[in-house]
Amino acid sequence: MKVFISGVAGFLGSHLADVFLADGHEVVGCDNLVGGYLDNVPADVEFHQYDCTYHNSMVKITRGCDVVYHCAASAYEGLSVFSPFFVTKNIVQASVSMISAAIANGVRRFVFCSSMARYGTQDTVPFTEDMIPRPQDPYGIGKLSSEALLENLAGVHGMEYVIAVPHNIIGPRQKYDDPYRNVASIMANLMLQGRQPIIYGDGNQKRCFSFIQDDVKILKRLATEPAVNGEVINIGPDDEFVTIRELAETIGELLDFDVRPVYVRSRPQEVLLANCSADKARRLLNYETQVKLRDGLAAVIEHIRQRGPRPFKYHIDLEIINDKTPETWKDKLF
Ligand SMILES: NC(=O)c1ccc[n+]([C@@H]2O[C@H](COP(=O)([O-])OP(=O)(O)OC[C@H]3O[C@@H](n4cnc5c(N)ncnc54)[C@H](O)[C@@H]3O)[C@@H](O)[C@H]2O)c1
Repeated sequence: MKVFISGVAGFLGSHLADVFLADGHEVVGCDNLVGGYLDNVPADVEFHQYDCTYHNSMVKITRGCDVVYHCAASAYEGLSVFSPFFVTKNIVQASVSMISAAIANGVRRFVFCSSMARYGTQDTVPFTEDMIPRPQDPYGIGKLSSEALLENLAGVHGMEYVIAVPHNIIGPRQKYDDPYRNVASIMANLMLQGRQPIIYGDGNQKRCFSFIQDDVKILKRLATEPAVNGEVINIGPDDEFVTIRELAETIGELLDFDVRPVYVRSRPQEVLLANCSADKARRLLNYETQVKLRDGLAAVIEHIRQRGPRPFKYHIDLEIINDKTPETWKDKLF
C-alpha cells in the first residue's frame, strides 16, 4: 500500500510513518515544519517540505496513494483564541486542500485527525461519538468544520473516510520547547531545567493522556478496516483521568523533583473536564490501553533527557494581545 501522511515531521505523523514502513508499505509525506522537527521524519519516507495549502503540490505528491492520513495541523487549542488566523488557516484551509487533492487522485480512503476539542463542553464525561459537538474555541471549530467538509466532499465523490479523534497524546518526538502546547512535555522540560511547572487556574482540570504507541497501533488499522468507514472514532484511553496538578506531581516523582507549581490565571475557554470514551474503539477495533500514564511519562522524560532540555521558543506571533492574553505568552514566562 502507498500511504500519504501530512505533518510527517510532527509527533503523530512520524510515528505513524514508522509503523507503516515497518510493515513494508511505501510512505510519502509532507510538512511545512511550523510545528515538527525535520529529524523526526523517518529516513525511508519520501519527504516533501511543502505546506498543505499548496494545493497543486498536494495533487502532485498524493498521486498514486491508496490512503491519505491528514495529520498536519497547527495543534494549538489554547492559543487559537489569540492567534485564530494562523491556527484555522493550518486546519481548515490545509484540510480542504488535502481532501480535494485526494479526491482528484482517486485515493481510496482519507483518515482525518480531528481532536477532542470538537466536543467542547458537554453535560457529562466521557465524551461519546454520538454527542452533539460544542467546540469552545477556533481550534475545535476548525476541526469540526474540516470534518463537515470531508463528510460532504467524500459523500459527493464516493471516497471512504474516517474521522479519528485522538486526545492528549504523549511520547518521544513531541515538541517540548513550545510554550503554547503539550503540557506534559512542557512540565518535564521545565523540571529538567530545575524550574517549577506553571499551571493555569487551580490545576483541577482533568484529562486522560494516551501513549503514542497505543494510538498509532489503532490509527494504522483505520486505513483498511471496513467497519470504521464513515465513522467518527475516539482513539485513546478512558481510564487514569487525572488533574493537571496530579500530572505535575507524577512527573516530579519520576524526576525526584520537589514540585511547588506556580499558579497563573486560567486561560479563556479552557474546558474543565475532558475525557473521551474508548467504548466504540474497543467494540470496532479491539482497542486496549497497554501503556500506563506513569510509564508514558517516563518515556517522555527519557526522550527530553537524551535530546537535552531546551529553552522555549516563542515562534508563533500572538495576533490578539489584550488583558485576556495569558502572561505566560505575553511576558514569556516559560
Ligand atoms: N498530540 C495530541 O495530543 C493530539 C490530540 C488530538 C489531536 N491531535 C491531532 O493530531 C494531529 C497531529 O498532532 P501532533 O501532536 O503530531 O502535532 P505536531 O505539531 O507534532 O504535528 C503536526 C505537523 O503538521 C505540520 N503542519 C502544520 N501546518 C501545516 C501545513 N499547513 N502544511 C504542512 N504541514 C503543516 C507541523 O509542522 C507539524 O510537524 C493534528 O491534526 C492534531 O490536531 C493531536
